[in-house]
Amino acid sequence: KKKKKKPRGSGGGDPGCPRVSKPSDDLQTSRKSGFFSALPLRASLRGYGFCMAALFLFCFGSLFYQLNGGAPQILQDIRHYLGKKFSLPRALPFPSQVVYNRVGKCGSRTVVILLRLLAEKHQFNLVSSDIHNKTRLTKHEQVDLMKNISKIPQPFLYTRHVHFLNFTRFRINQPVYINIIRDPINRFLSNYFFRRFGDWRGEQNHLIRTPGMKDDERYLDINVCILENYPECSNPRVFYIIPYFCGQHPQCREPGVWALERAKQNVLENYLLVGILEELEDVLLMLERLLPHYFSGVLDIYKSPEYKKVGNLTGTVRKHTPTLEALQVLYHRMRYEYDFYNFIRDQFHLTKKKIGLKSASQPPAYSSAFLRELTLRTPKPLDEDEELESDLEDKWLLWCPS
Ligand SMILES: *[C@@H]1O[C@H](CO)[C@@H](O)[C@H](O)[C@H]1NC(C)=O
Ligand SMILES: *[C@@H]1O[C@H](CO)[C@@H](O)[C@H](O)[C@H]1NC(C)=O
Ligand SMILES: *[C@@H]1O[C@H](CO)[C@@H](O)[C@H](O)[C@H]1NC(C)=O
Ligand SMILES: *[C@@H]1O[C@H](CO)[C@@H](O)[C@H](O)[C@H]1NC(C)=O
Repeated sequence: KKKKKKPRGSGGGDPGCPRVSKPSDDLQTSRKSGFFSALPLRASLRGYGFCMAALFLFCFGSLFYQLNGGAPQILQDIRHYLGKKFSLPRALPFPSQVVYNRVGKCGSRTVVILLRLLAEKHQFNLVSSDIHNKTRLTKHEQVDLMKNISKIPQPFLYTRHVHFLNFTRFRINQPVYINIIRDPINRFLSNYFFRRFGDWRGEQNHLIRTPGMKDDERYLDINVCILENYPECSNPRVFYIIPYFCGQHPQCREPGVWALERAKQNVLENYLLVGILEELEDVLLMLERLLPHYFSGVLDIYKSPEYKKVGNLTGTVRKHTPTLEALQVLYHRMRYEYDFYNFIRDQFHLTKKKIGLKSASQPPAYSSAFLRELTLRTPKPLDEDEELESDLEDKWLLWCPS
């Protein structure tokens, strides 16, 4: 990305030229006589020369760049360059058991589609559970599931909407965990409107998804839901992300410091990476880095025109943004979620820094300016639900690179 910008900057034409001619000014200052008369002509001639040279270099460079196959090559160069600085993946043993306990409405559909292609490319076993609505399990179910997971031939990646499972506790080999989260209010809004109106798959989808929903629920004003404390817009229902990281303990579902702290601790101890959806490309880049046997090449796929075509999951959903007042109430209600989100974001940026990626500085997610900005932000259309994902399967395999 950064390399790409350089040639454009130096060949940018007019804005670059005056600056290029400056060194000649300095040369001229030693010869005081005739300085003022000589400068404009010489400077402009030199400037012109520099300008043409820069333009030529830019054109030549861009031709070369395109002949070379464009972005993927550049990306590879960058990755290669970064690889010299970053030694973590080499220090790590190759993890052959990975669990992605994906959080709902956080772009996991996008990632699962990518994983299908990667599984084929890198020959690992991808097991994507088709249970989408059961995130907590009895002790017996937990053991059963963990045993099942550990029996998948390695290397494997198992993914399901499920709260963290503590393999260690049952003396089963603990896999490496990964996950992706997003801004909690945006996640909430995305889910709220998805349940009511479906997504790109059209209006019919809500009939499949929430068949029992009455019209007064479906058309419930989100401000009313929040301000009048409807269960859907209150705790514990809006305490959603933390339990995925805290675990199966009943207290993990009680909004509070205990669950928050345990979730944080658990991230540090058991998660290789928790990315944030707002920076998905960097998440993918880091996954390539940290789990190359699973994810190398993922950015090329993600950025390919074929993916863009099939991955075009956007569609109009009736997304209304709540009023500022409602948002503030919701924000307060979700303060633990925000505490966690900010923690994850900081960790993520820290890891990015280690790899050598810069993070765009963002305002901390506390201020009222942030809330105002939130009212203007449109949630990204990346996140679709898992259900019905088999719709896509056939289309995908048509162009799947082997
Ligand atoms: C989960 O969904 C299945 C159908 O997809 C349904 O039969 C089951 O009752 C649901 N379970 C819960 C806990 O909602
Ligand atoms: C474990 O695998 C068995 C056999 O494939 C299956 O019947 C059972 O439902 C699975 N259990 C869980 C929790 O996935
Ligand atoms: C997992 O279980 C082990 C052993 O019982 C325990 O020490 C650890 O705190 C547990 N971790 C979580 C996150 O539940
Ligand atoms: C995505 O699909 C919609 C409708 O299916 C279409 O209108 C839109 O142009 C597509 N966008 C892209 C980027 O292909």
